Amino acid sequence: MYRDRIRLADLQNRIMSADQAAALIQDGMTVGMSGFTRAGDCKAVPVALARRAATDPLQITLITGASLGNDTDKILAESNVLARRLPFQSDSTLRRKINDGEVMFIDQHLGETVEQLRSGQIAPVDIAVIEATAITETGGIVPTTSVGNSASFAMMAKKVIVELNLNMPTGLEGLHDIAFPVQRPYRQPIPLIAVEQRIGLPYIPVDPSRIAAIVITQRDDSPSNALPPDGETRQIAGHLNALLDREVRAGRLSTSLQPLQAGIGTIANAVLHGLADSPFHDLTMYSEVLQDSTIALIDAGKLRFASASSMTLSAPVYRRVLDDIERYKSRLILRPQEISNHPEVLRRLGLITINTALECDIYGNVNSTHVGGTHMMNGIGGSGDFARNAYLSVFVTKSVAKDGKISSIVPMVSHVDNSEHDVDILVTEHGLADLRGLAPRERALQVINNCADPAYRDGLLDYFRRACLRGGQTPHLLEEAFAWHINYREQGTMQPQGHVGKAAIEALAA
Ligand code: COA
Repeated sequence: MYRDRIRLADLQNRIMSADQAAALIQDGMTVGMSGFTRAGDCKAVPVALARRAATDPLQITLITGASLGNDTDKILAESNVLARRLPFQSDSTLRRKINDGEVMFIDQHLGETVEQLRSGQIAPVDIAVIEATAITETGGIVPTTSVGNSASFAMMAKKVIVELNLNMPTGLEGLHDIAFPVQRPYRQPIPLIAVEQRIGLPYIPVDPSRIAAIVITQRDDSPSNALPPDGETRQIAGHLNALLDREVRAGRLSTSLQPLQAGIGTIANAVLHGLADSPFHDLTMYSEVLQDSTIALIDAGKLRFASASSMTLSAPVYRRVLDDIERYKSRLILRPQEISNHPEVLRRLGLITINTALECDIYGNVNSTHVGGTHMMNGIGGSGDFARNAYLSVFVTKSVAKDGKISSIVPMVSHVDNSEHDVDILVTEHGLADLRGLAPRERALQVINNCADPAYRDGLLDYFRRACLRGGQTPHLLEEAFAWHINYREQGTMQPQGHVGKAAIEALAA
């Protein structure tokens, strides 16, 4: 069966086991693997590498598109194979090793990684391991459910290992559009002016002599772990829909809005689901990951076309889309993440971007990555690529976390991923702060009054008022700015109990 999928006959003698292919990877190498938010990741070679490490210890730098599925990051972390990891992850075991300082994690804008690779600013990829649906007559690699950084890895690596996944329908061929910016000094504008436009090839062009191994696999992607919408995420979606409706009435948007981007995770997915109940139609998406909400909007006749770098779906939706890929293919394109996240294209298309904050401060600075200012959650992902270059940059978050013990609106964020300059709109279940055209002192009142949970509102207003007495363009009480975080660390809650920040202030004074 698989021989039909290797259409360049000369390559058929490169089929080998995952263990044989993994033996090509040496200690100290930089390995570029396919995989983007659990989609289209390699499923056999990393496991074989971990198996080998049990008797033949080795460490690598692992670069991917984004996070991996099938517990690959967990397995590689547990077998101590990872010395360095970039540019994104979302696995709890790897997260622990990163936060313990055992794995060096480079948290990077997802659109930037291959730009740095190509220009030699980071160590070159020695071996690429790429999941494929098929290999063409010329040796071109047809990716599966993501493109991510696979095309650049395969074209730059000295050797390429292909994982040919027989579970992927051959109908995936034609879904992808592989294009790259030309090397400087000859670089030209990227000729992409519409979401549905194709500017490249339907496969990754690779010199077949560099394909060193082909490993046959038969395994599905891991399903998305985003939770379904709940009452609070529906309220967030409602506030956002009302804003977009006002923009349409004011003549700033048409009823098909602007191309949409929605970040990973439960909240952004749920907010996008909310557009099914909106009056908007003929929508388009230009995003990096397509979640269940994208397919729901296509099925509801709301979404005309979606472009991204990967499809990360729940198990039933994954099955439905792959079984009916010929129909969905006319509405979808998967591109390299360098193109899906490219500032030039994003600014040209004018996106409405919806990304998620862990916490946001009263002036609109966003922390999406560091819990308590120090501990990595997942990474910045593409949120910075999109927010900085958006037509309308929206951040969403629930107003509290951990049963109300944490306020997601704080005096000062403990880490900044997206600065106040890249945040136009902030939404929680309580309401929406429209920060466009406002100075910091005006932003603070919008954020506190519209977005903060009532249990924390007075504390924030009190902080803001006292800070204003000291003056400044962006007033702060530096000795108190992180008191809420320190309170949570020391007392397990940020809740005002008549002594907000007291322990923290005493600790700092000491
Ligand atoms: N402090 C500590 N923990 C917090 C928190 C805060 N201020 N706010 C949320 N959390 C915790 C939640 O309690 C939850 O914990 P759990 O997993 O133990 O239940 C976890 O963070 C995830 O929060 P949740 O409310 O379920 O949101 P989510 O699934 O939408 O994920 C992010 C939110 C920020 C972690 C996620 O969107 C992310 O990694 N973003 C960065 C990358 C990105 O934006 N990419 C965009 C382009 S794809």
